[in-house]
Amino acid sequence: MKTQELMDTARAMVADDKGLLAMDESTPTCDKRFAKLGIPRTVEARRAYRELIVTTPGLGESISGAILYDETIRQQKKDGTSFVKAITDAGIIPGIKVDTGAKDMAGHPGEKITEGLDGLRDRLAEYSRMGARFAKWRAVIAVGEGIPSRAAIEANAQALARYAALCQEAGLVPVVEPEVLMDGEHTLERCGEVTEEVLRTVFNQLYTQRVTLEGMILKPNMVLPGLTCPKQEAVDEVADATVRCLLRAVPAAVPGIAFLSGGQPSELASARLNAMNVRFRSRLPWALAFSYARAIQQPALEIWRGDAAQVLAAQQALYHRAQCNRAARRGEYSAAMDAGGVNQQKRA
Ligand code: 13P
Repeated sequence: MKTQELMDTARAMVADDKGLLAMDESTPTCDKRFAKLGIPRTVEARRAYRELIVTTPGLGESISGAILYDETIRQQKKDGTSFVKAITDAGIIPGIKVDTGAKDMAGHPGEKITEGLDGLRDRLAEYSRMGARFAKWRAVIAVGEGIPSRAAIEANAQALARYAALCQEAGLVPVVEPEVLMDGEHTLERCGEVTEEVLRTVFNQLYTQRVTLEGMILKPNMVLPGLTCPKQEAVDEVADATVRCLLRAVPAAVPGIAFLSGGQPSELASARLNAMNVRFRSRLPWALAFSYARAIQQPALEIWRGDAAQVLAAQQALYHRAQCNRAARRGEYSAAMDAGGVNQQKRA
């Protein structure tokens, strides 16, 4: 019975060409983004910003689920309505980030291991009581000279699988996020090799830990050249490399793949997702969707900047990016949807 519920929730998270909105920045990450724009780093500023997001009119037309953070799932709108209720009333499924962050991995300079398994069963039970129906855990894999190591890949994959098993036991759909980072000079081919190795290892561990693939969502990176790689491939080449990698490593039983944006400019994140759906949608076993944070929020955050007079304009920008990504799921996004086109926004 629980398995059926998990499967239904996972399918609902990628139904109707919608996708996920990640608004689960930890307090330090949110503060860092606020500081860059001169926004006060206070609980109230973070609350006001999250209220702006969850009250955006029409957000549920393109967003199926929103990933909250521990602080946010406990917060309310100014009128006292909980964010969970506001989201649910908008037709959006509430989710929650449950890892406690990526920490330096002992004996492995330059590599991280994500923490948060201790006490997770109890935290999941509490979040479930608060209304969450899915959860997220992010592992980060850096690419560089001699890294990633097998040890970092295996330790992170095992943690992801143990988290996913605990989520399913609690009736929450796990969003499994192994992120191969964009930082570095590595080529698109190298990113493809690393991503394939990471995904194969993650799915081996998910099998070993008895995770039901039909009741989970994969949240991977796209296969991209490193940010400082001299060769930056075109949108179609990124789409081809990403889908080739996923076809090799992701079982067909997984209902949906929802990409992270990883710091890509917003328009490029839409254009690349669009290209994948234009070229491959009819031939893929899983839905190719989005679970973006920066690529949906950044333009809105830059308009808002903590100014109450800018809330409506910021909400329009948020709505627009969400709509662009829904169009990208259908293969109907075009640069014309974004005045100025994909090349304009190198600012993210
Ligand atoms: P970005 O889309 O900004 O990479 O964030 C997605 C996310 O949830 C990171 O964990």
